[in-house]
Amino acid sequence: MKIGFFDSGIGGLSILDEVSKVLPSAELFYISDDAYAPYGNQSPKVIQQRCHQLTKILIAKKVNLIVVACNTATAWGIKELRQSYPTSFVGVEPYLNIVHHMKTPPAHGKIAVITTHQTGNSQKFLDLKKKADPDNLIFLHKSKNLAQLVELAFYKGMTEQINAEIKAELEPLKPLNLSHLILGCTHYPLISSYIEQILDIECISPCSFIAQRVKNLLFTEQNTNNHKEQAIHFMSTKNNTWDKSLPSSDPRWAKFPQK
Ligand code: DGL
Repeated sequence: MKIGFFDSGIGGLSILDEVSKVLPSAELFYISDDAYAPYGNQSPKVIQQRCHQLTKILIAKKVNLIVVACNTATAWGIKELRQSYPTSFVGVEPYLNIVHHMKTPPAHGKIAVITTHQTGNSQKFLDLKKKADPDNLIFLHKSKNLAQLVELAFYKGMTEQINAEIKAELEPLKPLNLSHLILGCTHYPLISSYIEQILDIECISPCSFIAQRVKNLLFTEQNTNNHKEQAIHFMSTKNNTWDKSLPSSDPRWAKFPQK
């Protein structure tokens, strides 16, 4: 079974990582669209065009399902993708519904969601927010640079400068004394333990739920009996060539603060 993933960069690896755990014999194709990153500051039109372009590349690889491993691309592109191709798509949205499943719901104003600008501005997000949070319990914080800073930290290492800029991005949340932060961009779970440390809060990310959804959609007797070794292919749109090693097997990944 073949599964495709795309994101503006390495953020979607937070989902690929979970999928690889629940479907160990799948062949995974991941596209990092870094030639057009960050999506959060792109126009909806460009995001939609990129969604089509990347979907076509993955369909040419004969994938059984595509994970739109990016909240921003899901917000602006997934509806059109579903209307345009017969392939199954799984998207990712901030897990706002968590407030209905918590043993003790957080006090008013003590939970926030952090998204890119384009996710927070999208109708899809606003509709979800209205439905899941009619009492407006969840504070919305739109971050301009956090995804790009995660990207920089991943490729260059966590320098003092990047560290200071990450702290500055999170600064507006400090006075709110939050108990929980919902991560509404797939880049953020890659530094969730770091965010938890800076803000002294608990982060909520949907990655394991997305992986379970992918598994449920693809699960067949035949697939489980097929014990092949997992293969992962990675492509950056900066060079457009498929690579057999994921950047996560790069030694720099080990130094990266991740959960
Ligand atoms: N990782 C993406 C998301 O989940 C996009 C981040 C960006 O490129 O701005 O929204």
